[in-house]
Amino acid sequence: MPLLPPSWAQATNRALRRVPAWPLYLLGLGWALWLFWQAATGALGPEPINTLERRYGELALQVLVAGLAVTPLRVWTGISLIRFRRALGLTAFGFVMAHVAVWAVLDLQSLSRIGEELVKRPYITIGFAGLLALVPLAVTSNNASVRRLGALRWRKLHWLTYVAVPLGAVHYVWLVKGWPAEPFVYLGAVLGLLALRLVPQRRGQGARRVPA
Ligand code: HEM
Repeated sequence: MPLLPPSWAQATNRALRRVPAWPLYLLGLGWALWLFWQAATGALGPEPINTLERRYGELALQVLVAGLAVTPLRVWTGISLIRFRRALGLTAFGFVMAHVAVWAVLDLQSLSRIGEELVKRPYITIGFAGLLALVPLAVTSNNASVRRLGALRWRKLHWLTYVAVPLGAVHYVWLVKGWPAEPFVYLGAVLGLLALRLVPQRRGQGARRVPA
């Protein structure tokens, strides 16, 4: 049962169809560069590298959560942001890469230390697993790959989202000290969105199982 009257959802979708997806890429890139500029000019406080690293990480998680919300939003309200999902995914991947690049190049500055940290700190191992799960998604996020893999295999591959995003959220919960609310809010949002993804699918499968 949609939460919005169908006519509202249709009107919103009609308006959204006129909005192009490309400004999202520009917005993401602009935001990343703006943060970098702020770090370089001392506007991010006394520990600019750590703050920049954290800001990129948090942005990555926020955009990943937004991407995860696209299908439940369509199922529960009828509003479709599917056209923007690729841009959201690639923008999130860009933030993850920026996050890791700041950590590796500006923070650690040494290959041996990167290797040590990956093994020594479970939260980094988990974050790295999340990054690895995102790579095939980013690499196949073009029309040629969808054609080459076929829609079904491509969609199956995108189940990796349901591995990558929870790993990102667990990585955040693991790295904080004490019990601040924020990482748990993200983890709760991710698990809630994954649960919402399962509900309509079960319904759909149930419906298909009903004998004709
Ligand atoms: C799906 C991938 C990832 C996501 C979504 C993610 C997200 C985050 C978030 C939200 C934070 C905390 C930001 C804050 O405190 O406001 C963070 C911190 C951090 N992440 Fe990630 N991360 C990911 C992958 C990685 C990877 C691959 C590495 C390194 C190999 C990494 C290393 C770190 C480090 C070093 C910190 C900061 C810890 C500190 O300040 O002491 N992350 N990340």
